[in-house]
Amino acid sequence: MYRIAPSILSADFARLGDEVRGVIAAGADWIHFDVMDNHYVPNLTIGPAVAKAIKPHCRNAAGNTVALDVHLMVQPVDALAAEFAAAGADCISFHPEASAHVHRSLQAIRAAGCRAGLAFNPATPLDVLEWTIDEIDLILVMSVNPGFGGQRFIDSALYKIEQARRWIERSGRDIRLEVDGGIKPDNIRAVADAGADTFVAGSAIFGQPDYGAVIAAMRRELPPGLSSRWAA
Ligand code: DX5
Ligand code: ZN
Repeated sequence: MYRIAPSILSADFARLGDEVRGVIAAGADWIHFDVMDNHYVPNLTIGPAVAKAIKPHCRNAAGNTVALDVHLMVQPVDALAAEFAAAGADCISFHPEASAHVHRSLQAIRAAGCRAGLAFNPATPLDVLEWTIDEIDLILVMSVNPGFGGQRFIDSALYKIEQARRWIERSGRDIRLEVDGGIKPDNIRAVADAGADTFVAGSAIFGQPDYGAVIAAMRRELPPGLSSRWAA
């Protein structure tokens, strides 16, 4: 039920295919793909052509697809979301502030055959979920301000994760709760206890020589099932 999603933002971009294959062999469940436009966030990264190039490498040894989890930190959203869907994205998340018509953007992502997600900055409330929860497949709680890897986890995110989990339980829908920023083996347990089921980690994994050891250390910290406080 848990997913570990290494962020390739911290990978060696000169060897991206090797890095994707390496982290999948090391146990990655999803590949988290950070798209930054130097407009919505003060950094510039990778686009649909790179997603298309790595898509064929997103398979594990058993031949199963490893989801390509695209996190759009771009404004506007819709044209790029369509390009990423065409490039093979499985999930596409965007920040509600970056779309003039959030509901329409969600519908368009789903109509293109992808799972749709909303990403919440540390200062952004979850209010928009009131009228979008039926259109989403994923909530992405940011535990750092978007734009850079290697930042420190912001503790108040734990309360927002709890709120998001309550939204999901009330909806009765199958929605993933993903947390992104500053996650490491020593804090992943607190993030899971707050209600998260999907964990993005960039620098914690790619910053170490043995990706498998870090991913295994993270999994060892996770409770056997979703924290009992969230059981129905
Ligand atoms: C930040 C990105 C994150 C980032 C996480 O804007 O959305 O996905 O790569 O990196 P770490 O795990 O190093 O905080
Ligand atoms: Zn991200």
